[in-house]
Amino acid sequence: MSKTFDVIVIGGGPGGYVAAIRAAQLGLSTACIDDRSNADGKPAPGGTCLNIGCIPSKALLDSSKHFHHVQHQYADHGIRVDGSVSMDIATMQQRKDKVVKQLTGGVGQLLKVNKVEFFHGFGKLHADRVVTVTGHDGDEQHLQGKHIILASGSVPIELPGMAFDGQHILDNAGALALEAVPQRLGVIGAGVIGLELGSVWKRLGAEVTLFEAMDNLLEAVDRDIAKAAGREFKKQGLDIRLGCKVKAAEVADDEVRLTIENKDGEQQLVVDKLLVAVGRRANTEGLLGDDTGVAVNQRGQIEVDAHCRTAADNVWAIGDAVRGPMLAHKASEEGIAVAELIAGESGHCNLDTIPWVIYTDPEIAWVGKTEQELQQAGVEYKTGSFPFAATGRGLAMGEAAGLVKIIADAETDTLLGAHIVGPGASELIAECVVTMEFAGCAEDLARIVHAHPTLSEAVHEAALHVDKRAIHRAN
Ligand code: FAD
Ligand code: NAI
Repeated sequence: MSKTFDVIVIGGGPGGYVAAIRAAQLGLSTACIDDRSNADGKPAPGGTCLNIGCIPSKALLDSSKHFHHVQHQYADHGIRVDGSVSMDIATMQQRKDKVVKQLTGGVGQLLKVNKVEFFHGFGKLHADRVVTVTGHDGDEQHLQGKHIILASGSVPIELPGMAFDGQHILDNAGALALEAVPQRLGVIGAGVIGLELGSVWKRLGAEVTLFEAMDNLLEAVDRDIAKAAGREFKKQGLDIRLGCKVKAAEVADDEVRLTIENKDGEQQLVVDKLLVAVGRRANTEGLLGDDTGVAVNQRGQIEVDAHCRTAADNVWAIGDAVRGPMLAHKASEEGIAVAELIAGESGHCNLDTIPWVIYTDPEIAWVGKTEQELQQAGVEYKTGSFPFAATGRGLAMGEAAGLVKIIADAETDTLLGAHIVGPGASELIAECVVTMEFAGCAEDLARIVHAHPTLSEAVHEAALHVDKRAIHRAN
């Protein structure tokens, strides 16, 4: 006999578990199905983000940043570390695993207190919103949903002839779990994962070479910001080779032999580990039975409308499995919106104001349009910028690289984009998101009182500079 729920969510990542909690808060009987297990075989809800994505990567970024600062920044503050400084990789990894365990355990608790029924197993949608859950012991259960939310996330893209082997050719999970610092780390793709995880292992002592197919670093990022970031990465010793393709990777004698091609022709290079980070694809493998009515497009994404409705009645899809940026907060906000729509409330996720953050050092963050996008669209705009080197706080902290750039409509002054590379960019972007969400102007940001001395003064001054009335820089 099948159990019936108002809402069945397939996938327990930041899209799925958040959707399930919100649906339950709204009084809907809710099930959440997730197949991920931790090292002990226990459920590990939280998806890619908590287990092998956002959280473990930030834990390692923080550990490696401390290590780097002890070696390279403390002396400026007069802090002398006598003797050698070394990194215990096992302790660093244990700390990361502890953070992950705490958070996935916390999600399990949250599902419980909100009375979401959790199923540990693989969910498959069939016609008429019947869902089968196959447990890890092979046991099968049948559930019936009035509404279904598909939140199956994404998986890394593999390159032909470079299958992930967990030993030499690594995906994000492999690069997060290394037990020792590789002497030479190759990274295919100087995108978000390549730069974040490349930074981790570089700070810990690896020689890191990134091979990027595009001629520009971070093609989607505002050019001024990407260029400033590129200069900092170069100073840190990250060897980023643009316009470069890895044609072959052969594993032999505990190393990876690469054949690389750029405008000058072919070259050979040997690394100890190779991280392939060339993007992710929607994960729909085995998710849909016959006749569900759900459409999947050529890119493998589940097709949805602006409100995350699929082509099948009362079947919704959110997060990395659908169009839009592959970000945890985007997945969660779509989950909340869909739960609210199912409950008959108004729910909406504005894809135009999703903030992006790359957690390198300095951090990179942005919201809205880049200057190159506006040029292409023929929109008239004005810009203002301000360097962190002109902020008292940045200098006092000894972290003054980077700038804030604000873009506003030439006529209406409406904020069209905000772009930051520098200390605390991940937090500073929030006020720009709020301003854009409220359809605010550069002048609104310029007239708001910002505390002194803070890094946020750079946002304030950049907004003033849009109107060429910044105080602490020449206009
Ligand atoms: P997922 O998190 O992928 O969750 C889907 C879950 O569903 C998975 O646990 C999967 O096992 C399970 N599942 C799939 N199919 C089934 C099925 N049929 N039955 C049962 N269970 C199923 N984003 C940010 O915003 N900030 C960051 O700092 C950030 N850092 C990242 C770092 C790395 C290394 C990576 C790889 C990603 C990072 N991301 C980050 C992206 C972020 O992880 C994703 O955007 C986010 O996890 C998407 O959430 P989701 O719920 O759509 O899918
Ligand atoms: P990405 O799309 O960010 O970067 C992939 C890079 O690889 C691009 O620069 C692309 O031009 C390059 N590339 C593609 N094919 C190539 C090839 N054959 N040879 C050389 N270069 C090639 O993808 P990435 O880094 O894998 O991350 C996937 C997604 O995960 C991100 O787009 C983001 O949505 C999410 N993520 C978010 C993070 C955050 O919010 N801080 C952190 C990590 C991941």
